This record gives sequence, C-alpha cells and structure tokens, in this order.
Amino acid sequence: MNPTDNPDLELFLTREQIQQRVTEMGADISRDFAGQTIVLVGVLKGAAIFLADLARAITVDCTFDFVAVSSYGKSNRSSGAVRLLKDLDHPIENRNVILVEDILDTGLTLGYLRDNLLLQKPSALKIATFLDKPSRRLQAITADYVGFSMPDKFVIGYGMDYSERYRNLPDVCFLPPEAEE
Ligand code: IMP
Repeated sequence: MNPTDNPDLELFLTREQIQQRVTEMGADISRDFAGQTIVLVGVLKGAAIFLADLARAITVDCTFDFVAVSSYGKSNRSSGAVRLLKDLDHPIENRNVILVEDILDTGLTLGYLRDNLLLQKPSALKIATFLDKPSRRLQAITADYVGFSMPDKFVIGYGMDYSERYRNLPDVCFLPPEAEE
C-alpha cells in the first residue's frame, strides 16, 4: 500500500526524505568510528527496517545483534514497565555498541536498555534513534544520532506499528486521531 494514495493517512516523512537522512546518519557514524568495528544492537521489532537501512549506509565493519523488550501491546502509550524479552546473542564487553531504536519517546525503553548494556562493559555505547519526541520524555536520555525530531503525535510506517499493523509502509505517516484508543 502506498500511503500517499491513502487519503486517510497524513504523510509525515517520505521515503526519499528518510533515505537521505539515514544516509547522513550512516556517514556520521562511519566518520566517528573510522578504523574501528561496531555492533549494531536493534530493538525489535520497530527498529528492524531502520537498522537494515542504517547498516547499509555505514562503511566501517559492523555486526548485528537484537534485543526485544515488552511492547505497548495494543495500546499506543507506554505502561511505564519495561521487561527484557530477548537478550543479546553475543557478549559486547570491550565492543563499540550502537543501540538502534525507532523512536525515543518517554525514554523508559532506552534508559532501561542503556543501563542493562552498560553492565556488560562495552568500550563505547551510543544511541541512534530514527525519531525523537523530546516533549514526551519521562527519563532524561539523549540520543547521539537522531534522524528527525518530531512533535507529540503517533506515527506509523518504516517499521513502526499500531497494534502490529502498518510496519511495512515505506513512508512515515501520522495515525489518524480517530484510530487511537
Ligand atoms: P519509550 O520507552 O516511551 O521511549 O518508547 C519507545 C517505544 O515506544 C518505541 O520503540 C516504539 O515502539 C513505541 N512508540 C512510541 N511512540 C510511537 C509512535 O508514535 N509510533 C509507534 N510506536 C511508538
């Protein structure tokens, strides 16, 4: 489905804007880690598409790993509780780690994951988020690499869901308010 053909969905970011920005982020990361290796740690499932694009925009040697945390379920707002559902497959001690997330919203998810990964003593731990909603923050946390900053609205597409739907939209759209529970 092409959301630009769907009058019910208000477009936020086109696939061209996304591609351009993700390419820039990959260049920034490649410059910052020149001559080193990186482990990209994606937060399932929302960050999967962003990680796939970001990884291909990074020119230094990198490997992937994934974690999963308890999601919002059918609701679209955080319950506040974060639980690890899937841990890393490989140790990250003395590795350069970039935690890759779709949206930094309240900060509870990335705050939890950051603290959890730091216990494993990586040599560097950075955060790359595709979107940032700074006005929603409950836990003080800033990302090192941010695709786009955005207002307090709910978005879907490019990996991001509403009740598991819309992840495959190539563009990012606002969820119509009437669809929110
Ligand atoms: P936080 O713990 O509140 O920062 O939540 C981060 C997670 O909430 C993201 O990884 C998303 O899964 C989800 N989330 C927050 N805002 C949105 C949105 O606008 N659309 C889809 N998912 C969202």
